This record gives sequence, C-alpha cells and structure tokens, in this order.
Amino acid sequence: MKNYLIYFAQSYPNFRRPELESLANLNNFSFDLSHHDESKPFIVVQLENDDQAKKIMDRSILSRGIYELWGQGSNYDELHANIKATSQDKFEVYKKSSFKFDFIGYKGSKSREERVEIIQNFKYLAFEGGVRLKNPDEVFTVLEEYSVSGMEKATTPRNIWFGRQVQLSSRTENVLDKYDLRRRKYIGTTSFDAELSLVTCNIGQVGPGKVCYDPFTGTGSFLVASANFGALPIGSDIDVRMLRGKGKNCNIQANFKQYGTSTQFLDVLTMDFTNNAFRKDFVIDSIVCDPPYGVREGLKVCGAKHPEKAEGRENIVIEGEKAHLRRDFIQPKKPYELSDLLDDLLFFAGERLPIGGRLAFWMPTANDDFQVNLIPQHEQLELLYNLEQEFNKWSRRLLVYVKRDETYKGKTTNGLKSQNIANFRDRYFNGFNDQSK
Ligand SMILES: C[S@@+](CC[C@H](N)C(=O)[O-])C[C@H]1O[C@@H](n2cnc3c(N)ncnc32)[C@H](O)[C@@H]1O
Repeated sequence: MKNYLIYFAQSYPNFRRPELESLANLNNFSFDLSHHDESKPFIVVQLENDDQAKKIMDRSILSRGIYELWGQGSNYDELHANIKATSQDKFEVYKKSSFKFDFIGYKGSKSREERVEIIQNFKYLAFEGGVRLKNPDEVFTVLEEYSVSGMEKATTPRNIWFGRQVQLSSRTENVLDKYDLRRRKYIGTTSFDAELSLVTCNIGQVGPGKVCYDPFTGTGSFLVASANFGALPIGSDIDVRMLRGKGKNCNIQANFKQYGTSTQFLDVLTMDFTNNAFRKDFVIDSIVCDPPYGVREGLKVCGAKHPEKAEGRENIVIEGEKAHLRRDFIQPKKPYELSDLLDDLLFFAGERLPIGGRLAFWMPTANDDFQVNLIPQHEQLELLYNLEQEFNKWSRRLLVYVKRDETYKGKTTNGLKSQNIANFRDRYFNGFNDQSK
C-alpha cells in the first residue's frame, strides 16, 4: 500500500466520504476513510496504486485532486527531511521525466519570489528531465495549509505536503461550470443544483452503460448529470408540460444536446409513478431522484378526487370513441401523501433493482421533528447513507439504499406515516412554527 494525499473542496464536507467510498466500491475496491475530519481539506489515505487513485478521483465532485505522497512536515526543514528519509527510491523513477512545480495553498499562499526560492530548495531531487510548463510528464505539487486566527492571516503554513500529482478531479476540470444551471438551456423552478445532482449520481453509483431512472424527472437535472458519467438515462413525470419544456431549443433534449450526451439519452415519458408502466423485465441499474414534496410542485397521482362523482365516466363517448382512450384525454388527478409515495418508491426499487443496485433520493424533513426512524425502510434495501443538507429550519436528506440478496432481512417501515409527522408542505408554509400534527 502507498500513501496518497487527497485535497478536498470546501463544499458539503459530510458528503465527501460517501462519495469516495461509493466510487471505490463501484470499481470493486475499498479503502479506509474512517479518519476523515470534515473540518480539514487534506487527508492521507492508503491505496494500492495510481490506478485506484485515478478511479476515485476522476469522477469526484467534492475533491480537487490526489497526489502520491512523497513527504510531509510542519515546516520546510521537516518536509525535506521527511522526503529524503521516505522517498529516495522515487527520485530515480522520475529522474528523466519532464516536470513542473505547482503550489496549492489553503487559507494562505506564497508570493512568486517565495515560490521560486522554495523550488530551489528541492534541488536534491536531481531531476534531469527538464522543466516543461505545458504538458509536462509529471507535476510535483507543494500543498500548504495555513491557520487563520480571527482576521489575522498566518504567513507560515502549519502543515506542508509534497507529492506527485496523480489525478485532478472532474471538479478541477470545470464540470460544475459546464453544468451550471445559469447556463443550461432548459431549467424550471424545480431544477436541482448541478453540484449536488452530480454528487447524487456518484453516491448512487450511476455507471457507464448502465440504465439510470429518474421517476420524477421534472426538467431532467439528474438525467443530464447521470449522462455525464456515461449512464443511459430514462425519466418519467406525471406532468407532460415539464417534459415538453418551452419549445424546440428549450427542453430536456436540448439540454442533452448542449452537453454532448444526446446519444446516451434513452427517453422521457409522461407517467404517474404509482401506476408504473415499465415492463417488469426492463432492467434499471440505479434510481436517482428528488420526489415531489409539494412545495414547488404538487404531489398528485392519477385518479378521481371524489370517486363517487366520477362513477360511470368511463362510459362517456366522444365522436364514437371512449373519452378516456382518446389522445387528448387528460387524466383526473388526486392528492397523495409523500409517505405513501416514498413507500411506493422503495417497493419499486426493491423489486426492480439488481442486487447491488442503488436507490438515491432526497427527502425533506423539519429539523425540530426529525428522528432517524422517520426514514422509510424496505426489507430488501439496506440504508447506506443518510446525508443532511441543512437549511434554517428544515433539511433535505440524501438517502441512499443498496439492494441486497434474499439473505438480507431488513425491516419494512413507513417512517413518516408511523410517526404521524405533519405534512412537510404545511409546516414549510407555516415557517415551521406550527407543531400541531
Ligand atoms: C421536486 S420535482 C423534481 C424536479 C427535478 N429533479 C428537476 O430537475 O426539475 C418533482 C417532480 O415530480 C413530479 N410528480 C409529481 N407527482 C408525480 C407522480 N405521481 N408521478 C410522477 N411524477 C410526479 C412533478 O411534476 C415534478 O416535476
């Protein structure tokens, strides 16, 4: 095993570990991240080789890069002593490679002149390959962590690492810029933030050539994110207007075109999830979604609100055709409970996912009445992660489940219903002041 240094972005630190664990697992290996400290942007981990390092990093959204660690210290003397003591064997390997030096400073940085002086002090590496600033064979990186007390900026770092750059993340390669909602052709009030859509797909283990289904597609944020990772996205939504978009150049297809992933896009269909029309043998590898919770969009299912009034309507005939079989027929809709919809989602995933397939969805909760047992469970799905994104009085949680084989005996519970938790929508519009259930 070799030491590698991961440099994280300062974004959703509680999602970092699940993201990297999921990417490792997708590539059939695991590594220890139990010492991860969410307040720190650097972590040293042990991996077999560069190949593993590349596999967890190239898709990562919450990391910036990974480096083969050559040495570390709390000052430059310590750093150099450590490099000479532990990494002499590596000097020879890269002796003839062209190279350049790079600097990364967390909460501080060195001036140009200081950097030149620091580079001079690495002369003992005795590299002969020559400096090449554009496309060098290797990039050697000095990573510094400064401490900040109050408004004072420290001038000397408290930790320094030196390493060979193995892989920069897709975040560093500007994937967030590419998927930024401000530049996306078709968005709506329900469009999901690009960064977290991509993270959801990583933790949901959306993979190249695999079918990824979003049952509550809306404007298709998860579909385009999944295609970014090579998946074959398919979506459905009860509201045809969402899927149709706002014209030829402002719809879900236009978004795929914009990102150059049209050839992967399977399709979107208008469908009430609770009356799912997919063939039973249609293989779905992962499910990622943001179910409706009634704040920006209604939670409705097909059916009559007052069945007694609707009696006999199936016999209405227009121009010799049964009204409900005509192309222009608009289904009546009735309200539905979020708790029941989540139950349906878990049952669907339990039935349709392959063993090892993942379901990842977002669930809103009011902070003052959240308990772990609110999280819905299904006997064939193991809850892997419950990741909170906190707002003022409420949170949304990314819940990630994996389908287990029949030897796994979990418990099926409808958490929200069993706890008789007040409707999230009502509490949201009450500013979470009203606790009456
Ligand atoms: C929170 S939005 C999802 C937004 C989506 N992630 C996006 O990027 O725009 C939930 C979606 O679920 C849809 N929906 C509501 N009830 C549904 C049902 N019974 N079956 C399928 N879709 C439904 C709504 O029309 C809405 O588009």
